[in-house]
Amino acid sequence: MMIYAALRLGIETAVMDPDPECPCAGLAGRFLTADLGDAEAIRRLAGEVDIVTYEIEHVNTDALREIAEAGTAVLPRPESLAVIQDKREQRAHLSGQGLPGPRWGEVDGPQDPGIDAFGFPSVQKLRRGGYDGRGVAVLRDATSERLDGPSLLEAKVDVEQELSVVCVRDRFGHTDAYPVARMEFDPEANICTRVCAPADVPESVAARARDVALRTVAALDLVGTAAVELFLTHAGEILVNEVAPRPHNSGHLTIDAADTSQFEQHLRAVCGLPLGSTRQHSPAVMVNLLAEPGAAGKPVMTGYARAMAVPGLSLHLYGKNRVKSRRKMGHATVIAEDLERARQLADQAAGALRIHGTHGAEESE
Ligand SMILES: Nc1ncnc2c1ncn2[C@@H]1O[C@H](COP(=O)(O)OP(=O)(O)OP(=O)(O)O)[C@@H](O)[C@H]1O
Ligand SMILES: [Mg+2]
Repeated sequence: MMIYAALRLGIETAVMDPDPECPCAGLAGRFLTADLGDAEAIRRLAGEVDIVTYEIEHVNTDALREIAEAGTAVLPRPESLAVIQDKREQRAHLSGQGLPGPRWGEVDGPQDPGIDAFGFPSVQKLRRGGYDGRGVAVLRDATSERLDGPSLLEAKVDVEQELSVVCVRDRFGHTDAYPVARMEFDPEANICTRVCAPADVPESVAARARDVALRTVAALDLVGTAAVELFLTHAGEILVNEVAPRPHNSGHLTIDAADTSQFEQHLRAVCGLPLGSTRQHSPAVMVNLLAEPGAAGKPVMTGYARAMAVPGLSLHLYGKNRVKSRRKMGHATVIAEDLERARQLADQAAGALRIHGTHGAEESE
């Protein structure tokens, strides 16, 4: 999605990814197959480009620091990424800057008596390597299954809604934000299924969410697009959950519903260009198109034409050539006169379009 924006703006791309058949391999100007931890490959990439950015947190920050010191612009800065990569460091940094969050502590591993001392219910998060809910466990009581590794521990928040504010910050510190979005999750898989924006919250809540989010990206000295995931509690508090220093699932709807997409904003910011408008021109609902539970093999779609008949729908398939159980294979955004209508239509599309695999999940139409 960022490459599409780059092509329009006349920005040439070179992309590094471990999978030679990944969706961007066929779109990037140049493509380098390499593990994201491969320092030598990162040095080679730096030799080919003026600016390096990344769309995943699990990158070799030492190598990024090294190329930055040697003169390549690396944005967001490796120092910001190093803090975000470690959930404990991120939480400590944000609370040190006075940003609101849940009560927290840290433990060495599952046997650490600190887990019981902290109290229940809590949420255990591996310090490193989590993604899409993996690396996060809710500990209801002392018998709940624990994760194996050094972890951040948080009090379980009484969440009314999960909100996200997609922010953009340029090289000179100017910040702006899109309207607050509401994220909905599959409670079992802990994966985001639907995003609605502007979130249906009182204006005073939206203003506070936006303020906290903008202070958060400034506190981390981020450059580019960044999403600040927030909890709105039943008591009406806004707490920071975590920060994604890149375009984010909650901002995909900006492609079809805002003046400037989150991907174009990221490019504008890291390239030192003026930021675009963050105005959202239509209420929008985005649904993630997840592969069926248990799906494997190559993707097989059913209900494609029925989904395409939904008015106001924009379909975005990522071109991933393998399905995995509940893998994000694409998304669909519906814009409409109001959020309720957009939601109905988006659900209609998501209900029609099913992504199975050539192995594993049974066909059902
Ligand atoms: N302190 C908390 N209290 C209540 N629920 C929480 C808490 N922390 C996390 N959660 C729930 O777990 C989900 C995943 O947590 P988090 O965002 O930290 O993990 P992640 O694996 O980095 O997720 P992703 O990559 O999907 O953003 C949150 O979206 C939220 O639903
Ligand atoms: Mg998260």
